[in-house]
Amino acid sequence: MDPSTRQLDWFDSEHARSALSALDEGALPRHIAIIMDGNGRWAKKQGKPRIFGHKAGVVSVREMIASCVELKIPYLTIYSFSSENWTRPEDEVTGIMKLFVEVLSREVINLNKQNVRVKLIGNIADLPEVTKAAFEECVQSTANNTGLTLVVALNYGARQDVVTALRTISDEVSAGVLCSDDINTELISTKLSTAGIPDPDFMIRTSGETRLSNFLLYETAYTELYFTEILWPDFKRDALLDALLSFQGRNRRYGGL
Ligand code: IPE
Ligand code: IPE
Ligand code: MG
Repeated sequence: MDPSTRQLDWFDSEHARSALSALDEGALPRHIAIIMDGNGRWAKKQGKPRIFGHKAGVVSVREMIASCVELKIPYLTIYSFSSENWTRPEDEVTGIMKLFVEVLSREVINLNKQNVRVKLIGNIADLPEVTKAAFEECVQSTANNTGLTLVVALNYGARQDVVTALRTISDEVSAGVLCSDDINTELISTKLSTAGIPDPDFMIRTSGETRLSNFLLYETAYTELYFTEILWPDFKRDALLDALLSFQGRNRRYGGL
């Protein structure tokens, strides 16, 4: 990839220039999924409350969006709140829900400027009213954009998503719309909340944890996984470029040779 064709005010470090030169523009992932982990530990390291880490993590999200836009990567999915995260202390959960509202009211204009379309996956109905309204407004306002699709996983759990899909299929079989022979892997994909979105080619998890934590379990059958010790608020453009270089060094065999 020729760094001179890129916005150098965006990828402006020496590290970014050399990583960009090494990247093959034709072999970038079509869909990147990120488990943004380590906000709490990042805050703790500085003796600050956990919400401070979540706020700092927003800057990394903004950088990932701008980077994917700049690299013309069509899909970015971010794990923002899992269905298991409700078990955290109430003040942290309330703080995160409030932070979503603050960030969305500020960022919708930038998302539109960057031609980003926002989609949501997860159980949105169970979110606090104001948070739900802020996300729905963001989805509506960006619906006609044609650039990056930003998929926000919110109150998301992959196992529950599979359960919901199976219930839909079961209802359709009972109603005679489908017969059991119609059930195959493609059909199941069309009933998941990620229907219409290609499976992720590349999944990044920050903070040194090496598990999927109930994220996109069905969709990641052949996803390349990348784990880094970097805590999410420190994961910026250069780190993304390093991850992409690792992706391009992989040999995706899909069970073949
Ligand atoms: C990820 O960071 C953000 C959410 C899960 C909402 P954490 O809050 O999990 O941070 P750590 O893993 O405790 O450091
Ligand atoms: C996964 O991180 C969920 C999100 C990043 C939103 P967690 O911090 O909740 O995962 P575990 O508990 O370490 O598995
Ligand atoms: Mg965590």
